[in-house]
Amino acid sequence: MECIEIRGGKPLYGTVKLQGSKNAVLPMLAGCILHPGVSRLEHCPRIRDVQDSIRLLEALGCRVWWEGSCLAVDASRICTWKIPEEIGARMRSSILFLGALLGRLGKACLPYPGGCVLGARPIDLHLEGLRKLGARIEESASCIRAEGERLRGTEISLRFPSVGATENILLAAVLADGETVIRNAAREPEIGELCRFLQEKGADIRILPEGEIIIRGSARLQDSRHELAADRIVAGTYLLAGAVTGGRVTVERMPFSHMEAVCEVLKETGIKLEKNGASLTADGSGGYCGIELLETAPYPGFPTDLQSPMMTLLSTARGTSRIRENIFESRFKIARQLQRMGADITLTGREAIICGIPKLRGAEVEAFELRGAAALVLAGLQAGGVTKISGYRYIYRGYEQIFESLKELGADIRQEPVSQRRAAFVKGLPEQAGTQSVTAKG
Ligand code: UD1
Repeated sequence: MECIEIRGGKPLYGTVKLQGSKNAVLPMLAGCILHPGVSRLEHCPRIRDVQDSIRLLEALGCRVWWEGSCLAVDASRICTWKIPEEIGARMRSSILFLGALLGRLGKACLPYPGGCVLGARPIDLHLEGLRKLGARIEESASCIRAEGERLRGTEISLRFPSVGATENILLAAVLADGETVIRNAAREPEIGELCRFLQEKGADIRILPEGEIIIRGSARLQDSRHELAADRIVAGTYLLAGAVTGGRVTVERMPFSHMEAVCEVLKETGIKLEKNGASLTADGSGGYCGIELLETAPYPGFPTDLQSPMMTLLSTARGTSRIRENIFESRFKIARQLQRMGADITLTGREAIICGIPKLRGAEVEAFELRGAAALVLAGLQAGGVTKISGYRYIYRGYEQIFESLKELGADIRQEPVSQRRAAFVKGLPEQAGTQSVTAKG
């Protein structure tokens, strides 16, 4: 099986520049189809989920091209409301095209979304919200069909502040008749960013301090250019990579205001954080200690996406820690893999008890999803000896050039040659003739 080889035990030193945010760009790519014109996304990350979204947009009839690090989408000529199974089922965010297609065309047909396996990832809140707006939705074993030529604004109270459901409802409500109010909406920074992206297109959206979102449907949207915020999860991953190796890593273009909970937790472990303008340095040379209880929670709580990388850190912290995962029930899959590397972890339901050990040992392990892959890479960097990670390719879903960046920081990583298609995408080169085109300019 294809794997990546990490010879660990080397402290990482240096500086990393952050990519644009994955969790922000994916709903925006769905939002690009809302109007028959061009949307530009600056600092768009060249990650696999974006590559898959581009394929999806092209399958709908959009023209997509790169202008340096800016991705441009022309949705003037959408020719279908059907998302092909082989494209839609590749990623979770394809579900966001349900709201966007309903808004633009009044119809949608798509497969059940794919993405990382983190336990049950229901979409009932998405469908309930869209039904309240007037969409008729039928579910069959293989696909979701929806119709609603005239969606009408209404009040929607989410029983959980689901990020995806909030995004789907927003995308559909922008072109609905009248006013939509989303109560108990998600407050993740990516929601605010999606609202700003839609406002730049001319949408009338207000976010109230109590977390309600009010959308006044508008018939006409315009071309837009949006600058993506830096990726807060990638920022956390690199800070942890520096700390877990006992090194010192600086992250530039830090989204400080979105990372308060993460910085608090890092400080609690004793990792030294130094702010310098827009940069933050994490210094793990003095070691770090465990945390009594780390709980994941909706924003502004600690993000579930950094729970696995934290598990790696706490596996080698001084003392005992407890993690409680409140968002996804199957997000402890890497515990078994870390155990193979010597970690002392006991799982009981949604909780993990971790007794820190000084050093992990290299082993053969397997990644099953994106953030778990990142966590195992951190474990490999910390461990003595060689760690071989199969399934490591999940990391490409969310991290741009991560192995190249880690090597620049001093990591010893051996990788199978990347496919020509991926190399072309990451470097912004035209793909070879015969493959689906992602045009590169500039
Ligand atoms: C979640 C994270 C988001 C992260 C993303 C990718 C939270 C609150 N959300 O977003 O920060 O970037 O994963 O890893 O941390 N749920 C339902 N019914 C639904 C939708 C969701 O019951 O229709 C439940 C889920 O089972 C889960 C919780 O709500 O327990 C969070 O789901 P949601 O925020 O929708 O997940 P994502 O949008 O995938």
